[in-house]
Amino acid sequence: MNAVTFLSPVLEEIKLVEERMRAQADESHPDLRAALEHLLAAGGKRIRPTLGLLVGNMLGAPLEKLVTLGAAVELLHTATLVHDDLIDGSLLRRGMATLNARWSPPATVLTGDYLFARAAKLAAETDHLPLMKLFSETLATIVNGELTQMFTSRGLISRDNYYKRIYAKTASLFEMTSRAAAMVSPANEETIESMRDFGYQIGVAFQIVDDILDFNGDQNAVGKPLGSDLLNGLVTLPAIYYAEANPTDADVASLPNGGWTNNDNMTRLVDNIRMSDASKKAMLEAEQHIDRALACLDSMDSCVECEALENLAKYIVDRKV
Ligand code: IPE
Ligand code: IPE
Ligand code: MG
Ligand code: MG
Repeated sequence: MNAVTFLSPVLEEIKLVEERMRAQADESHPDLRAALEHLLAAGGKRIRPTLGLLVGNMLGAPLEKLVTLGAAVELLHTATLVHDDLIDGSLLRRGMATLNARWSPPATVLTGDYLFARAAKLAAETDHLPLMKLFSETLATIVNGELTQMFTSRGLISRDNYYKRIYAKTASLFEMTSRAAAMVSPANEETIESMRDFGYQIGVAFQIVDDILDFNGDQNAVGKPLGSDLLNGLVTLPAIYYAEANPTDADVASLPNGGWTNNDNMTRLVDNIRMSDASKKAMLEAEQHIDRALACLDSMDSCVECEALENLAKYIVDRKV
């Protein structure tokens, strides 16, 4: 699947989103501005603004609001990555050095904060109060999810906990973007709900695939360190499938008791998971969410955007990046 098949209807509009993002650095301190330019130049798939633009365009929302929403959401996403990489100690993102690889933790935290503030300002510029409320609720969900992950989830082998975590850290933002794009359009409640569910389903699948790529991805394509989730104590879906199939594996059994802090054992466990069929099983589960997402589009009249959304959903489970 070629990414262009879902990007092409919004190629020009994504450029407007990027311009809007770049403008947020204008009045900042020169070092901060340089850092923001570095972050924005590194690119990224821009999948969240693409989702918002496609849903909103399909439903007849004003372009100006969609561009503002897209810039707000992508800046919020960027801010969470800046903090996430600091928290995870990751030195590589989008094939480039992370901020925390070059700057001190305090400067990195503050840069993330600045991005959050700018994202909030952009959300306010949509002039849509329910959207702003949803935006801040989503940010709270993401932060709460990261804290829960940090304090209570490390080493835990639990599907229920896994699904709660991936909703909080990733699916909530996809859900919010898709729902908000429908909210600023003339769509009825039922359509808004379908679009919310569409965003939710592709968001869940997106994080499952991200977790699979951490095991089976190609380092050069992914552009961020692989094999790192388990070393951080994060037991994701492929590891859960492996644990279910190999309950007596000593490395698996050690996880809930802090065994994930042992680098050598975790490197061995990562290798064993890579060689098993755990990622294949996890992928089947991601595909089920994509099927549910596609069902949300059934009631839409056929149009270029609707077809692009279908391709976007399929791309999520096909992607190598
Ligand atoms: C990375 O998101 C963080 C996750 C939620 C897995 P993306 O894979 O969308 O990151 P970029 O923006 O394309 O780099
Ligand atoms: C990132 O999740 C989620 C947030 C952005 C809060 P991951 O930790 O899995 O993301 P990557 O793999 O570092 O991109
Ligand atoms: Mg991370
Ligand atoms: Mg990851």
